[in-house]
Amino acid sequence: MRTHYCGELRSSHVGSSVKVCGWVHTHRNHGAVIFLDLRDYKGLLQVVFESENASLFAQAERLRNEFVVHVTGVVQHRRDGETNPKLGTGEIELLASDLEILNASEVPPFALHEHVGVGEDVRLRYRYIDLRRSEVQQKLRIRAATLSQIRSFMEAHEFIDIETPTLARSTPEGARDYLVPSRIHPGNFYALPQSPQVFKQLLMVSGLDRYYQIARCYRDEDMRSDRQPEFTQLDVEASFVTESDIMELIEAMLVDLFKVQLNVNLGRFPVIEYTDALNRYGSDKPDLRNPLQLIDIDDIVQESYFKVFSEAANDTSSRVAVLRVPACIDRFSRRQLDDFVEFVKKFGAQGLAYIRVKDHSAGRDGLQSPILKFFSDEELRKILDRCDATTGDILFFGADKRPTVNAFLSELRNRVAQDLNLVKDGFYPCWIVDWPMFELDHEECYTPAHHPFTRPNCSLAEFNASPYEAKAHAYDVVINGYEVGGGSLRIHDFEMQQAVFQVLGISQEAQVKFGFLLDALKLGCPPHGGIALGLDRLVMIMTGAQSVRDVIAFPKTHTASCSLTNAPSEIDHAQLRELNLVLRKENT
Ligand code: AMO
Ligand code: AMP
Repeated sequence: MRTHYCGELRSSHVGSSVKVCGWVHTHRNHGAVIFLDLRDYKGLLQVVFESENASLFAQAERLRNEFVVHVTGVVQHRRDGETNPKLGTGEIELLASDLEILNASEVPPFALHEHVGVGEDVRLRYRYIDLRRSEVQQKLRIRAATLSQIRSFMEAHEFIDIETPTLARSTPEGARDYLVPSRIHPGNFYALPQSPQVFKQLLMVSGLDRYYQIARCYRDEDMRSDRQPEFTQLDVEASFVTESDIMELIEAMLVDLFKVQLNVNLGRFPVIEYTDALNRYGSDKPDLRNPLQLIDIDDIVQESYFKVFSEAANDTSSRVAVLRVPACIDRFSRRQLDDFVEFVKKFGAQGLAYIRVKDHSAGRDGLQSPILKFFSDEELRKILDRCDATTGDILFFGADKRPTVNAFLSELRNRVAQDLNLVKDGFYPCWIVDWPMFELDHEECYTPAHHPFTRPNCSLAEFNASPYEAKAHAYDVVINGYEVGGGSLRIHDFEMQQAVFQVLGISQEAQVKFGFLLDALKLGCPPHGGIALGLDRLVMIMTGAQSVRDVIAFPKTHTASCSLTNAPSEIDHAQLRELNLVLRKENT
């Protein structure tokens, strides 16, 4: 239908007769002349209708925003003073000789030509209109280019793309399953995969050696801006590999990706030990754009009169840490400091002590804080020295169980850096390594820090002697404070796998759920390992989007529903009967 895209016409086309198609972005009727901005995905083109051609002009007068049209005309220079340097097509316009209205449009639910504040609920309900906006489309195009480059990279490294089932059995990644009832097997359910983990390990047992897949995963978990109930992973597995083989491969892929897509040089990724990350940043996914760090002072305050501090300092499962914020004494009012106290309480803090360093050279007299009275001069000096404190700083203190201090001081670290504009631009990746095998969850139960197939970094005898101290051959890649990917070497030894299930208290259950994997481990399973990257998160970071929703064509809302199609929806009785399902009445 067309000879050119609207957005690609330039001065070099002046004099050419062309046909273009697109949507009416705006229309302006000046009486003797009508101007359209015609839009396709490559950009806007000004189209002119002159009143001399009465029938054509009359037809153009019927046009409204978002009508779909086919225009024939000749490209001409815009008149002096009417060029628009902001547009690629800003020096030319199309003088129309023919117009075909391919489709009319009702008034759209929101305007596309103005920057109006449209709520996300409306945007998602009419997502197909929202997707007409170039800034939204641009993100999907970067996503497509990213996927394409990743495929080429993986294939150049001899990884083969293998699809694994999505009607599957439960795969343990720590979330709830989405279940699909079976019609043929009444009372039985498939689980949609939380990841292809078990299948990719079986492919290694089969000798396929290097697998990758752009895999859709499903997890029924609390929503956040970086989570969706269905999301896409770059899933990777390889045989006879070490941790560094996988880390180097993925680092090289990300470096290439950022270079080609964004012209950004990521450089080498720093490698940070898990405990070091928690100690320095309070988080296993530190945002390295933020220069602030936590500093331990347990050894200094062990004898302090301030019980909150000395008790924590003498308890190995607790910590006393300082967040030193330089040159901010005049930036934060008393009220803002009180706000911080309220802020950290949301993350479990009992309180937030702080010291304002008004004059570093004046010793105790130069400090301002209600907790000064609890410390000797010697203790205060040591704290200031340990933190490298100087005049103008504020020191914030956290004392509690380690996970609590880490949670609230890492949130404070982010908040303060944002308030003071300390967060650097750009991309700051890192690897987090030396993970523990297990972590304590909120109910003080041990759960896998990754998943139960992760290989401990010790012998079976050592693991059995002290399983909770065991470290794992696991690694996460983090960019700008987001966990972009996680992986590990896997257990390829039947006995070790049994031992891990036993520690988790799921040996019986595992026999039923993963008996097939345990069998495979006994039938010539090679050492193997891999990783999965969250592609939605990666593209979100690359495009500077605020949420993974912005880089998914049809995302779910924060209540895991689709406002466009109204999924999930009720099903009728016939379908329920066919699936052998009976719904419980609401109040039973
Ligand atoms: P993991 O559970 O760490 O590992 O998942 C890998 C990556 O997937 C992304 N991700 C998500 N993205 C959007 N929405 C979600 N709900 C969501 N959940 C996870 C994250 C995460 O780092 N099988 C293992 C990988 C392996 O060991 O090879 C796994 O799935 O970016
Ligand atoms: P209090 O003696 O309870 O009034 O506390 C004195 C100061 O210590 C106040 O500024 C509290 O906010 C702070 N504080 C109390 N508990 C903690 C804690 N667990 N960690 C850090 N500061 C605390």
